[in-house]
Amino acid sequence: MVSVSVKAPGKPATQVDFPGKTAEQVTVLDLKKAIRARGIKIAELRQRLSLPDAADPKARPAVLSEDTHSLAKYGIKESGSEVRCKDLGPQIAWRTVFLAEYFGPIVIQPLLYHLSTKGHTLYGALHKAGLSFLEATPAYEPSTLQKTVLALIVLHYVKREYETVFVHKFSHATMPFRNIFKNCSHYWLLCGVMTAASFFRPQYGAAAVKGTVFDNPIWIGAWSLLWVYGEFSNYLTHMNLRSIRTPPGQPRNFPKGYGFDQVTCANYWFESLTWIALTAMTCDGSFALFTAVSVGQMLQWALKKHKTYRKEHGKNYPKRNIMIPYIW
Ligand SMILES: NC(=O)c1ccc[n+]([C@@H]2O[C@H](COP(=O)([O-])OP(=O)(O)OC[C@H]3O[C@@H](n4cnc5c(N)ncnc54)[C@H](OP(=O)(O)O)[C@@H]3O)[C@@H](O)[C@H]2O)c1
Repeated sequence: MVSVSVKAPGKPATQVDFPGKTAEQVTVLDLKKAIRARGIKIAELRQRLSLPDAADPKARPAVLSEDTHSLAKYGIKESGSEVRCKDLGPQIAWRTVFLAEYFGPIVIQPLLYHLSTKGHTLYGALHKAGLSFLEATPAYEPSTLQKTVLALIVLHYVKREYETVFVHKFSHATMPFRNIFKNCSHYWLLCGVMTAASFFRPQYGAAAVKGTVFDNPIWIGAWSLLWVYGEFSNYLTHMNLRSIRTPPGQPRNFPKGYGFDQVTCANYWFESLTWIALTAMTCDGSFALFTAVSVGQMLQWALKKHKTYRKEHGKNYPKRNIMIPYIW
């Protein structure tokens, strides 16, 4: 019989038993359901189960993160094991978070483009409000560069919305609700507001860029081609990831083939290329900042995924870079 002592904040330890079962036969989800049935009123989706802190106070508690894994997988024995149960608070579906994140730039970019080019409403108002470094300019004719960048950004996020609904299969159904504000601010503020406010200025308008490289169709076309290559390749990697999903409870496969033979996170690499293309095409600081933050984040996640694959697959994991082909 499995017998686990569960400690939730502000509650006495509760004994949860599974008569006639071994730790191999009881999953994390079974334990969550049993905890709720024993009177700890926290819905399964909101429960975060972890093992007690290790002797080293700096060591993070081992989290029972996979609902489909057995308790034995986390080192829980038939008796004498203790588990902490924390309430993660209200949850929101991952898919909803992704949809909300990408919806921001799809609306904000065209809105700021319109406000900036069709009149002096936006910059005039901000100028009056004290942002004197912004010029209170009249309406101006947008350049081909501005129109192209607007189209590419909207297309990028429409593609991401499509993939969220029709391509990605997420293993975690939900995440804490409060995270939506942090996640959305990256896309709504940094990509939506910051890049649009910076780039849809008259300094990039048709009159200002006339005769410069920013007015040159070869310049715009060449960077757009790199962008198309990055987007299409990113889509292919997402389809690849979708195809290798294993049934719940079974170990994850690692991706192979296009892009993945060179780097562990080919999808992040191709996504990075699209933002590098936009930064190079515009030579605008706001795009450089958004690209730096995004690529920096993806590098961190890629390193984590690379280590996990190597840990899970050992010698079977092929030699490949982490995210940047031939470099890192
Ligand atoms: N601009 C930015 O700042 C930025 C930052 C990050 C990402 N992105 C974009 O958003 C996309 C998605 O990001 P993400 O961090 O969610 O990517 P991800 O962790 O690679 O996941 C993408 C999808 O593939 C699945 N997946 C990953 N590895 C798998 C495996 N070994 N076996 C089966 N399924 C697997 C994931 O499912 P699980 O739910 O099981 O993990 C998820 O549905 C990126 O590729 C990139 O285009 C943009």
